[in-house]
Amino acid sequence: MAKPKVLATRPLFPAAQEILNAGCEAEYWTRPERISKEELFEKIKDKEGLVCLLTEKVNQELLSAAPKLRIAANVAVGFDNIDVAACTKRGVVATNTPGVLDETTADFAWTLMMAVGRRLIEADTLARSGNWKGWDLDQLVGTDVWGKTLGIVGFGRIGRAMARRALGFQMKVLYADAVRAPEAVEKELKAEYRGMASLLSEADFVSVHVPLLPETSGLFDAPRFLKMKPTAFLINTSRGPVVDEAALVHALESGKIAGAALDVFENEPFIHPGLKRPNVVLAPHIASASIETRTKMACMAAENVVAMFKGQRPMNMLNPEVLKAK
Ligand code: DGY
Repeated sequence: MAKPKVLATRPLFPAAQEILNAGCEAEYWTRPERISKEELFEKIKDKEGLVCLLTEKVNQELLSAAPKLRIAANVAVGFDNIDVAACTKRGVVATNTPGVLDETTADFAWTLMMAVGRRLIEADTLARSGNWKGWDLDQLVGTDVWGKTLGIVGFGRIGRAMARRALGFQMKVLYADAVRAPEAVEKELKAEYRGMASLLSEADFVSVHVPLLPETSGLFDAPRFLKMKPTAFLINTSRGPVVDEAALVHALESGKIAGAALDVFENEPFIHPGLKRPNVVLAPHIASASIETRTKMACMAAENVVAMFKGQRPMNMLNPEVLKAK
C-alpha cells in the first residue's frame, strides 16, 4: 500500500526523520530560507500530513490549499499559529508537543533572569572590548537574584518548573493563574497564589508563562507596568503579543521598571528598536533550543503523524473530537 504523503517544512532531526520515513512518504523543505507561503501551498496540495513550525499559519487559507490534509503536527507546544476550530471543521487533526520542553524552557527563562539581573551581556561586551581597566568596586553592579521575590504569571508546567528552580535560590515565589494550583503543589513548591495586581507590586522578577489567547493578548500593558516596582524586571519566554511592546518600551524609558529579558516579540522577527537598550537582554525565540529538547519535539510531531496514519490516536491531539466523530 502506498504510504501517506507528508510535508515537513524543515529537515527535522535525523531521529525524527527516521520515525516519519518509516510510516510516510515524507518530503522535507531543505533550503536554508524559510518555505514561502506560495511554495507551501503548492507542496501541500497532494499531502495528507504536515509537520510545521510555529512560523507557519495553519489557517483556513492553508486548509483550502490542502484538500487531502488529515493532520497538521506543530513542532511547538504553543499553537497560536493553528486555527484549531478551522481544522476541526475540516476534520483535520491538529497536534502540538507538550511536556518535552518544560525544563529546557524554564532553564532559559532562568538564564535570562540571571543575565539581566547580573548584567551579563554588558559584562561580556566590556570584557571583549579591550576597554576593561580591571576590577573596580562599583563596576557593572547588578541586582541579586537569590533571596528575591519571583512572580510567576501562568503556573502550568513551565511556570512550576521555574518555581522549582527558585527553591534552590531561596526565593519567595508568588504565582498568578486563572486556576489556582492544588494545595499539595503550592506546598511542594512553596508558592503563594496571588492576584495579578498584588503579584506585580511585590515581585522583583516577573516571569511570564501563559499561552497566547484572546485573554492574554496585551496582558502586560501600561497600567500593569505601573503596578510593578521600579526595581523589577520582566522576563518573557511565552509569546510576544502577551506584552504590549510599546508600553514596555515606555516603561523602560521612563524607569517604571528596571529592565527586561525577552525571548519572544510581538511581531517576530521584528524587534522594537526601543528594546535595544543595555537593561534589556534579547534572544531570538530559543528558550526550547537545546539539541535534546528540539530533537524530542521533532520526534513527538513525527510520532503524532505516524500514529494517525496507523489508525491510532496521536498522543497530543488539540482537537480529539475530530477522531471521535469518525
Ligand atoms: C513553543 O514550543 O511553543 C516554543 O515557543 C518553541 O519552543
